[in-house]
Amino acid sequence: MAKKILAVVGSLREGSFNRMLAMKAKELVGDEAEFEILDYSGVPLLNQDIEFPAPEAVATAREKIKEADGIWIFCPEYNHFFSGVLKNFLDWMSRPVSNTEGQVMNGKKIAISGISPGMSGTALAQDHLVTLLAFLNADIMNMPRLTIPHAMGLIKDGKLELGESEKYLLRQKDAFLKFIEE
Ligand code: FNR
Repeated sequence: MAKKILAVVGSLREGSFNRMLAMKAKELVGDEAEFEILDYSGVPLLNQDIEFPAPEAVATAREKIKEADGIWIFCPEYNHFFSGVLKNFLDWMSRPVSNTEGQVMNGKKIAISGISPGMSGTALAQDHLVTLLAFLNADIMNMPRLTIPHAMGLIKDGKLELGESEKYLLRQKDAFLKFIEE
């Protein structure tokens, strides 16, 4: 049966570079696996007063995480950290589903990529993200991770053209497909 990859883009903005990168990854994955970009725009700010029963958007996202063989996170960099929306999302996912069911990130296989206009290509944000994911006991593919700097220079007619960097995304895709097979 085809493996399922769920992409989580840490930016809600329409023209997000990280969303464009996720779309490129989807193109490269082709029919080698199912690839869905999660819409979690309806997940509210975490407030323990509304934790149980879980809001519908949270419950739906948890189901999709549970069904996925791998989660591919596309991580923007905000102030050398990952974005607040991604932190909020992962905080929700880090909470137990019920009294009898634990949190859904436990043991999940994860790939991390990111693109930014700056020089770091999201490397600093990714390191922080790894710290959080390790705490959730996720199974992180640390090699390769992908960092793409200078995003502005890669936008042609409103589209992301990776050029030379595309081979690194291809390499990461191949590695992740192998990682989720193991
Ligand atoms: C940024 N940006 C940014 N870029 C970077 O390379 N290093 C950084 O530390 C920051 N810090 C930062 C803070 C805040 C609050 C914002 C809003 C932005 C720029 C950021 O990387 C850029 O807007 C990206 O385009 C965001 O990713 P998406 O939305 O294109 O996926």
